[in-house]
Amino acid sequence: MSRTNWTAVDRYIAGSLLPDDAGLEAALQANRRHGLPEIDVSPAQGKLLHLLARIGGARRILEIGTLGGYSTIWLARALPEGGKVVTLELDPHHAKVAEANFDKAGVSTLVDLRVGPALETLEALAGQGAAPFDLVFIDADKPNNPNYLRWAMRLSRPGTVIVCDNVIRDGAVLDASGRDANVEGARAAFAFIATEPRLDATAIQTVGLKGYDGFAIAIVGG
Ligand code: SAH
Ligand code: DHB
Ligand code: MG
Repeated sequence: MSRTNWTAVDRYIAGSLLPDDAGLEAALQANRRHGLPEIDVSPAQGKLLHLLARIGGARRILEIGTLGGYSTIWLARALPEGGKVVTLELDPHHAKVAEANFDKAGVSTLVDLRVGPALETLEALAGQGAAPFDLVFIDADKPNNPNYLRWAMRLSRPGTVIVCDNVIRDGAVLDASGRDANVEGARAAFAFIATEPRLDATAIQTVGLKGYDGFAIAIVGG
């Protein structure tokens, strides 16, 4: 199976099972127009996040790493009445593009985008006594994965679901040489989860139009 097949099958999945969503489509186009890197989740992965949110009945969702808000829109579309996605982004240009994408997708009132280094924003959220999140999606600078997992747990309740993106990296997760900071981040996520007794987890390898990568999925215990 080649990458061409993965892309064709992802198109088949999207054509069969995913909604036509002008807001999501427009976001990808705007991201391209404004020169954002094409590192958003794939449509099928976005739908997985959306389904996880609905399966868990998530009302409060935290996302670390907004980019142009493609995954954010998928998550916002999963919210019940009164729900919220808080999404954290370092880059003001990404944030500006994302805000416009949220407007166009009709989710602006459902999304609270906070610009700045996520570690600082997370500290501020905790300081403000933020209510626990039901679902956390970690998808920012990979070396901080353990810090984000720690914050995700601090801002969680028993039953909170934590999803961490890009933990397989073409299988390079097996490379223990320490040459690639993103791979180190993936390995650090595994190490953190493995030694944290309050997290019960698995990881799923994915192929598709974004290549070969994967998610770790964890649930917070009592
Ligand atoms: N979740 C998005 C993709 C996020 S890409 C989607 O699937 O559509 C990763 C994002 O994390 C980039 O926009 C990058 O600017 C942001 N990022 C990197 N370091 C960060 C930091 N320290 N704090 C917050 N965001 C950061
Ligand atoms: C890449 C992909 C991602 O999903 C991400 O969050 C960061 C980087 C990449 O392919 O480089
Ligand atoms: Mg990612």
